[in-house]
Amino acid sequence: MTVHKLQPPTGSAIDFGAEIRGADLENVSESDFETIRKALYENSVILFKNQQSLSPRAQYELTRMFDPSMQSYGHGKTLDAKRSILHPDLKTIPHQPQVQVIGNGQVDSFEGLKDITLKHPHHKTFHKHPISTEDDRDNTRFYRWHIDAALYDLEPPRVTSLMAVKVPKTELQTLRYDDNTGDKLQVSRGSTAFVSSYKTYDLLSEEDKQFARTTKVQYAPHPYIWMSGARSLSDGLGLVSDDLELPTSSLPPIDDSKIKVLPMCWKNPVTGQLALQVHPSAVQKLILADGTVIDDLKEVRGIVHRLQRPGIAPELVYAIDWEEGDIAIFNNHGVLHTVTGSFLPEEVRIFRQCNMAASAPPMGPDAE
Ligand SMILES: [Fe+2]
Repeated sequence: MTVHKLQPPTGSAIDFGAEIRGADLENVSESDFETIRKALYENSVILFKNQQSLSPRAQYELTRMFDPSMQSYGHGKTLDAKRSILHPDLKTIPHQPQVQVIGNGQVDSFEGLKDITLKHPHHKTFHKHPISTEDDRDNTRFYRWHIDAALYDLEPPRVTSLMAVKVPKTELQTLRYDDNTGDKLQVSRGSTAFVSSYKTYDLLSEEDKQFARTTKVQYAPHPYIWMSGARSLSDGLGLVSDDLELPTSSLPPIDDSKIKVLPMCWKNPVTGQLALQVHPSAVQKLILADGTVIDDLKEVRGIVHRLQRPGIAPELVYAIDWEEGDIAIFNNHGVLHTVTGSFLPEEVRIFRQCNMAASAPPMGPDAE
């Protein structure tokens, strides 16, 4: 088994991502796993090619090796709530409930699921100012930069695995930031985009690093229901503050002990690097070192966006050009990621996604 660092394309400055060659993912020995784990934490995103035959069971077992005591899906049963914005995007494989099917189009039969309709998330359902219908086929956005995490009750999964089963190949799309910077990026249709939250931290001024190391982030209770009426900025990096979040009285019952307060910086367990790791849409409050609580949503979002925006610059984005049989595993405590693209109903795409709520909270900046 060999690890090959990604060669960034011309104009790109990405310093993460690696391909692992020669792995037998159906039979991962302990020493193989040590190599894979080290590669994951050193490169943030690892890619295995030609894994068409990998079973959902083996995908689950491989994903679980990163946190062997855990067995339940990263969002638990919270997706059952029909009002969650995540609800329409995922279908559960009946014989392997930690593995979800996502994609686009009509699928007669897949892993025990019959006659399902998958819908690729389109930014027009989430962004405040979507791309016009005329421009929509050739242009796209970052749908929603995020960490895979329930952010209420459950701990953020350590890793997520994502397998490309069926990939329609079309012309490229232009990904537009539409934030008055003129930033844009060419991406393959349906690319999954990643940025390194270690890079985002490294780009901060010394003063901001100090702030990030000492500030805690409080997430909204039932965040994906709470934010269901709100709309996103055009760069997909957080929400517009139009007072459209649901009031507490409209949410399911809240158990205060389940509200998540997490450090703003999460430490890499192998390299010791710090990631500026915040889910920009789910954040509700910031708790500063001296105990001050910033609870004005607009201010909270403004601060988080100012810290995170440099990290999603076009030259820092790794946009995977998926091929059928690819399986990517990413360090969910060290990257942000997002869907991009849009598909016609007849463009059938099938992916399998797996993650598990972690057995412990992410490591804070002072963890040993
Ligand atoms: Fe995700």
